[in-house]
Amino acid sequence: MRYHSIAIDGPCGAGKSTLAKRLAQELGFLYVDTGAIYRTVGLAARCRDVDPSDAAKVESILPDLTITMGYGEDGLQHMLLNGEDVTQAIRENEISAYASKVASVPAVRTYLLEMQRRMAREHDVIMDGRDIGTVVLPKAEVKLFLTAGPEARAERRYRELLELGQKADFEQVLQEVVERDRRDMEREISPLRQADDAVLADTTGLDLEGSFRLLLTLVQERLDTGEELD
Ligand code: DC
Repeated sequence: MRYHSIAIDGPCGAGKSTLAKRLAQELGFLYVDTGAIYRTVGLAARCRDVDPSDAAKVESILPDLTITMGYGEDGLQHMLLNGEDVTQAIRENEISAYASKVASVPAVRTYLLEMQRRMAREHDVIMDGRDIGTVVLPKAEVKLFLTAGPEARAERRYRELLELGQKADFEQVLQEVVERDRRDMEREISPLRQADDAVLADTTGLDLEGSFRLLLTLVQERLDTGEELD
């Protein structure tokens, strides 16, 4: 049996995870947040006092890591690092930069690739990240590249951090967003870029509902399920 896959890529704060989660619910697909996997490796580096930009050091800790992705009764994706649930810990703001830095290490990407592909072999998935349409699932039936202007994305990220109860300063968040974009787009391996066959969706002036409707339409137009989706 062949499963359906939808790839959503784009820079941070474009609304990928919120929208992908909702789309997954609507379509009955599994939502796979691949950023959470890189965040888990980033957290492991921080816990071990490893410089996330030191490729050799980061590579050396990989054999000690067991990373598992599970789905709770709440339907949410939980990340386990050596058996410990780190779902909340990986959301700390500091871990964003750690994740982006370890994601430039080729050994990390190779290590995580099969785990991501396996999810798509075993389920109907909506997978979001930076290289899903280009590298992880190049044959995905639907590919979307979701973006918005840097200020709009920083604003969303800022509000998200406040909702998580973390301290945040808008100007600093904007600077971090721009820096993370640059690192994710300029790295040599699997950089963030729009796949040639991906559809560009810009959500700058759209609220959540508007963005969701736009994406749902784009998906429904492209997804060949052999049945009507409503
Ligand atoms: O989606 P996110 O912001 O939680 O991702 C955190 C970092 O992980 C992001 O800055 C870059 C990296 N990442 C990646 O390189 N490739 C992916 N498919 C997903 C995330």
